[in-house]
Amino acid sequence: MQLPNYKEAKVRNKKYKRVEYNLDDNYIGKYSGKTYFLKTYGCQMNEHDSENIKAMLESIGFSEQEDYTKADLVLLNTCSIRENAHNKAFGMLGRLKHLKGQKKDLIIGLCGCMAQEVGVVEEILKKYKFVNFVFGTHNLYRLPLIIDKALTENKQEIEVFSKEGDLIENIPVRRENNYKAYVNIIYGCDKFCTYCIVPFTRGGERSRKKEDILKEIKELVQDGYKEVTLLGQNVNAYGKDLYEEYGLGELLEDVSKTKIARIRFTTSHPWDFTDKMIDVISKYSNIMPSIHLPLQSGSSRILKLMGRRYTKESYLELFDKMKEKIPDVSISTDIIVGFPQESEEDFKETLDVVNHCKYDNAFTFIYSPRENTPAAKLKDNIEYRIKEERLQKLNNLVNYYFLENNKKLENQTVEVLVEGKSIKKENQYYGYTKTNKLVNFTGENIKEGDLVSVTITDAKTWSLDGKLSK
Ligand code: SAH
Ligand code: SF4
Ligand code: F3S
Repeated sequence: MQLPNYKEAKVRNKKYKRVEYNLDDNYIGKYSGKTYFLKTYGCQMNEHDSENIKAMLESIGFSEQEDYTKADLVLLNTCSIRENAHNKAFGMLGRLKHLKGQKKDLIIGLCGCMAQEVGVVEEILKKYKFVNFVFGTHNLYRLPLIIDKALTENKQEIEVFSKEGDLIENIPVRRENNYKAYVNIIYGCDKFCTYCIVPFTRGGERSRKKEDILKEIKELVQDGYKEVTLLGQNVNAYGKDLYEEYGLGELLEDVSKTKIARIRFTTSHPWDFTDKMIDVISKYSNIMPSIHLPLQSGSSRILKLMGRRYTKESYLELFDKMKEKIPDVSISTDIIVGFPQESEEDFKETLDVVNHCKYDNAFTFIYSPRENTPAAKLKDNIEYRIKEERLQKLNNLVNYYFLENNKKLENQTVEVLVEGKSIKKENQYYGYTKTNKLVNFTGENIKEGDLVSVTITDAKTWSLDGKLSK
């Protein structure tokens, strides 16, 4: 048994090795005939980890079962970011306990960010003894060995490393989409925003070597992929731990040269978004003019309490520079309301920034205190009812601008990457614009993965309607 520990999780040392994934032949196909159900919570990073998990499970013989009540193994890949992500996973564990009452052989596993939380693992040890195994984000690659140990020794196996350890290359992957792919470029986060648990659940920043990233993307191009999303908790920190003068700007330039049709990246921290990056995004047509730039709060006082390392003014300066230099750029954001001590005045400043930036998309949240984070120790003097009112007000405002921005696209022709066909209507397809807007459109002789021109006929708050242009 190996349990997580926050003291160790907080330490940052920049020493790690690049190691190739390697699984002993004895494990291959060992569990053939058995089925699994995998449930993923949280961000794109977790979705991509789940693509690795599926491939590893399949390599040891499991096959996918979409109904969890029929599967031999149910695995939850969890998220810690807010209380409700927690509640969902614990709710599912409750249902699984019931199911295990009827199906004694059911195997239950939990992995992902919640496994890195000291309190969660303690609770599992105490109250969820029916969970067969738990592993964390740092030992994902050991999944086949952990499952095998839990099953052959027939006792609860908990293996959570507090520190990140080596960077493992070439973990098998079973991608969910044939045209769009996630590619990790940097793991971990060293920013330690005061409200955020990610630096504890995902460890220190570690960049993949540029050669490994470019090789993966070249292979995706050969396999017919049209879009890659470069992933990291803070992609702007790419390369800092590896190279003197090679960062995200340079990487984007090299990825652009692979000729993949569309390149996206997420998430960018406003603090270290360089001019080089802005230049590169505006220069190369296959780098999408779509940037996720989390604001969190429009009040410099609250930003300071959040440890965000920028002010309202410096954020707006960066925002305006992007709008000026990158033609037709769309900018989306994340905003937290009800951070401890957020006054009505602070909240109004957030609304002011929204009124200035008129975001194309925004994810809005009520602050949720997280175990072991500095903000959880701040005195929270705002009633929950007020927080809910602020969220409602903010949502009304951001929605107003989504629609206003979408309206500007009416009668315009945009490029869409086709993702699928409507099951309800004949000749109805959907896909995304370069600026990451969902378009539902009519047309004929279209395939998934096509890049087509669509004329927008009607704008809605969260999507656009259109028809294939001739
Ligand atoms: N690395 C990304 C954030 C990933 S988490 C970045 O820095 O932009 C996604 C979003 O969840 C954050 O941007 C933030 O808005 C929200 N979030 C993180 N911790 C939170 C908390 N404790 N309570 C509420 N929202 C939170
Ligand atoms: Fe969390 Fe901040 Fe890191 Fe984003 S940059 S993952 S919000 S600590
Ligand atoms: Fe959640 Fe972990 Fe992602 S906490 S948001 S799954 S990095």
